[in-house]
Amino acid sequence: MVKVFEKEGHRIIWGDALDALSKDIPDGSIDLIFVDPPYNIGKDFNGRKDKWNSDNEYLAWCYQWLDLCVQKLKPSGSMYIMAATQNMPHIDIYLRSKLEVLSRIVWYYDSSGVQAKQYYGSLYEPILFCVKDKSQYTFNADDILVDAKTGAQRKLIDYRKAVPTMYNAKKVPGNVWEIPRVRYRMKEYEDHPTQKPTALLERIIAASSNPNDLILDPFSGTFTTSFAAKQLGRRSIGIEIEEKYVKIGLRRLQILSEYKGEELKREPKSYERAMPQQKALFERK
Ligand SMILES: C[S@@+](CC[C@H](N)C(=O)[O-])C[C@H]1O[C@@H](n2cnc3c(N)ncnc32)[C@H](O)[C@@H]1O
Repeated sequence: MVKVFEKEGHRIIWGDALDALSKDIPDGSIDLIFVDPPYNIGKDFNGRKDKWNSDNEYLAWCYQWLDLCVQKLKPSGSMYIMAATQNMPHIDIYLRSKLEVLSRIVWYYDSSGVQAKQYYGSLYEPILFCVKDKSQYTFNADDILVDAKTGAQRKLIDYRKAVPTMYNAKKVPGNVWEIPRVRYRMKEYEDHPTQKPTALLERIIAASSNPNDLILDPFSGTFTTSFAAKQLGRRSIGIEIEEKYVKIGLRRLQILSEYKGEELKREPKSYERAMPQQKALFERK
């Protein structure tokens, strides 16, 4: 059983991803899919355990929604998948027979919190960028340009050219993306253990979709994908099984301001409760 909420091109489906994908989304209808599933590493999603009995059971489950996602993509569609570092090789090999893997992205972040002492701590998460057909897919390179150090910062001149020319000041990002994780003091923070940064989704959506395209996220969590899609003038479908997180989505997407008689508002942070007037001092962008 699923429940659907919708407003102005943004749909939230409260239910199980496999169920919703198979029954509620037409085949070949989606321009871009972003999938950030449970990683099988024991996170606590509002009491729902992110742990399967074995790696094989977990991967068998992943292969089911991966197949459905491939089915839902348009022939010109793209898909980005995140997974734990130890599981990504399986997913990568599985998908190679179904999609073209164009980039293997490393989302890198620094961590000043818990740090491993007896081995090298994990400071990245892998992301696969795949397309259905490499001769027809969207890639808006000009919309995601970043500073090129040689040209923009060091202002070097390339003397190997017939007429010496400045190096380009802008470039398409490479496959290592340094984007800070969402921390408690950031404005976008929501009460969820694995919220992804809006900046990460903005890059993906700007590059791999066009205005008004339809974007799907089968494991929406705090609905970062739908939120970024809305900011960028795309349409979205987000699926999430936990009611607590569906409520975050309803609020972030301004679909409802009240739910079951409760006003939907962001929980004040501890420092906001203590000193509301000093909120700006504590908050990071
Ligand atoms: C890794 S988190 C996604 C985080 C999200 N990208 C964000 O930025 O907030 C995975 C989400 O999948 C949800 N989930 C777990 N099992 C599910 C299922 N069978 N169907 C739909 N959602 C599920 C969890 O409640 C959790 O919120």
